[in-house]
Amino acid sequence: MRVFLTTYGCQANERDSETILGLLAQMGYEKTNEESKADLILLNTCSIRDKAEQKVFSYLGTLKQYKKAKPDLVIGLCGCMAQETDMGDLIRQRAPQVDFILGTHRLHRLPEMIRNALGGAGFQADQEETTEIVEALPSVRPYRFKALINITFGCDHFCSYCIVPYVRGRERSRRMEDILAESRLRVEEGAKELQFLGQNVNAYGKAQGHAGPYGSFADLLVQAEKIDGLERIRFLTSHPRDFAEDLIQVIAESRKVARHIHLPVQSGSNRILRSMNRGYDRETYLALTEGIRRQIPDVTLTTDIIVGFPGESDEDLQDTLDLLNQVGFGSAFTFMYSPRKGTPAAKMDKQIPLQEKRKRLQAVMEVQQANNLRVHQSLIGKELRVLAENWEDGLLSGRAEGNQLTYFAGEAGETGKFHQVRITKARIWTLEGESCGHG
Ligand code: SAH
Ligand code: SF4
Ligand code: F3S
Repeated sequence: MRVFLTTYGCQANERDSETILGLLAQMGYEKTNEESKADLILLNTCSIRDKAEQKVFSYLGTLKQYKKAKPDLVIGLCGCMAQETDMGDLIRQRAPQVDFILGTHRLHRLPEMIRNALGGAGFQADQEETTEIVEALPSVRPYRFKALINITFGCDHFCSYCIVPYVRGRERSRRMEDILAESRLRVEEGAKELQFLGQNVNAYGKAQGHAGPYGSFADLLVQAEKIDGLERIRFLTSHPRDFAEDLIQVIAESRKVARHIHLPVQSGSNRILRSMNRGYDRETYLALTEGIRRQIPDVTLTTDIIVGFPGESDEDLQDTLDLLNQVGFGSAFTFMYSPRKGTPAAKMDKQIPLQEKRKRLQAVMEVQQANNLRVHQSLIGKELRVLAENWEDGLLSGRAEGNQLTYFAGEAGETGKFHQVRITKARIWTLEGESCGHG
């Protein structure tokens, strides 16, 4: 039996796809890269912007032919779209070739859904929400030398534009011992780099008062640092609202935590930040980045920006452009605001026309690309520590400490190792350099 799996969206979905493949391996499924050879086609979907959803619907359209050619082919939808309340009806209308939808809380039920589908159950939907965390599900991971580790699930922030709290549920933290046990296991299996995942990693253990089996995110980093054989720790994403002073200090003193902080600001305008319900203002954000830079001088800061939020004026946009220049981010993900059904922002007045959003996105991208290049150029001549992840045509590529994608000449067998790379060339999105050896 063969499975074809497509993953959309963020690292939360990437991690879930590892679990999906783990569950399927236990059922005897092997992976295939061709839909035509698959007995099972799974889409692990993302709801964050309308474009992500449209991609899924148009892809589902192309799958009709495979179902026609092989009537016992099973097609399933997992991930965030599968958790949206009206998705069952929508799929039945628009994509009747789909056999089941399985929400984000219910991954462990996948084998049962597949067996039911094979038994001729007809359309199934499981969107039940739980606050329970199911531990110790199997997984199949794409890389041995690095691993994604969930530390929190869901989100309680309810930024007014965002669908994540609705499709991923309330914020739940894993017990610290469970996180550390999984981390140790991954390192024993060969992982040198771990990436801790959460929609807001610094809120780890917050609901539990950072007490009992939970602690704080800073505590977790201190404990993870002690794992022998682990060389680098990354984390994603930090919310500016919960970024505590002790966390900055732990990162500054750590030998293993990468000096990279992804700190989404979304907008540089206080009016828009308030309307977004972000819980901080421009001044607090700038003070935080200055505090981080003071204590961790070699840090790379990166961010996310949304343009065209309802009511955004030219002045608001200018505030965002100014903030980008003031902070000097190493890179930024920039998005046009996409109204999500059920979120407060979708019902706000003064929605910005698409044409105008495009123009604003262009303006933000131009400013940020100049910053990318400036930050990258400042690295020329420096030696950066890069974990080589991939090899193609004589070139190794991987991420430097500040998350910069770096290319350098090397052998195929040298992936999974840390290299000292002297940077020789800077581009907007990438760096080039020469390996000066392992280390
Ligand atoms: N929890 C993370 C972000 C997760 S979503 C945080 O708060 O930092 C990743 C990014 O998608 C967000 O930072 C935001 O920039 C963008 N995003 C979320 N909802 C969006 C929407 N409705 N339209 C456009 N971009 C959106
Ligand atoms: Fe969405 Fe805000 Fe939660 Fe991030 S913090 S996932 S943007 S609601
Ligand atoms: Fe998308 Fe869900 Fe991640 S909406 S961005 S896959 S949490």
